[in-house]
Amino acid sequence: MADGAAVPEGCTRVPVQALRFGTRVLYRLLSDYRPKGPLGHGTRRPARRRTGTPPMSGGEELAERVHALLAAPRPWSVTQVGDPVLRRTTEPYDGQLPDGLLRELLDAMFRHLPGVGVGLAAPQIGIPLALAVIEDPADVPPEIATARERVPQPPLELVNPVVTPLESRYHAFYEGCLSVEGLTAVVPRHARVRLSALDGGGRGYDVELSGWPARIAQHETDHLNGVLYLDRAEPRSLSTVGNYERFWTPPQAERPPG
Ligand code: NI
Repeated sequence: MADGAAVPEGCTRVPVQALRFGTRVLYRLLSDYRPKGPLGHGTRRPARRRTGTPPMSGGEELAERVHALLAAPRPWSVTQVGDPVLRRTTEPYDGQLPDGLLRELLDAMFRHLPGVGVGLAAPQIGIPLALAVIEDPADVPPEIATARERVPQPPLELVNPVVTPLESRYHAFYEGCLSVEGLTAVVPRHARVRLSALDGGGRGYDVELSGWPARIAQHETDHLNGVLYLDRAEPRSLSTVGNYERFWTPPQAERPPG
């Protein structure tokens, strides 16, 4: 018999009351979720918002939040998993910020990256707009760079990005996220994609990416659809970063995609 196929005897002895209670809890959990985004991942609907990122209402409040970010010391404190902003589909950018402020925000997002990560999406700093930045100097040992096809990726501004797979081949590697501190897991990603987006000046572009840059683009675009890498990860590969470095790779710093 396959592992896990047998029903433990104890399961047949759960009191009926406990089963009813369990059903009620399950019903409450499920009814608190609703489909969200193109992949149908659930997002919790908070009944009352007491903590975390407050709701956004209109461009004025958005601009205030961006000004607060610009004044804050960097690297910023990145929003962590559990904050609803990371689970919502972002609003497409359509001029919600006053002239020049989008430019300042994107520049500041790039300044956050060195030594921290290779990509950052706006929800990670509490901004629910479809904006992200990518830049990877790929300063890793040559054997890692070769295995992961990790080539330097010049700065890319992603405004309203769309990622389209260009082939069915997947690569699976350990991946992390600035919004899921201390953990890493194996995530299969499309090996080659087309990234279509606008830059910060509103000019459209299309670029083909493969290897690690393709992974970063998929990771950041997922953020804009309320999806975290954990949703796509192999659950049994989940590891603390410390144990990953101890058991699965020679100790060396690798930056999470973002
Ligand atoms: Ni991330």
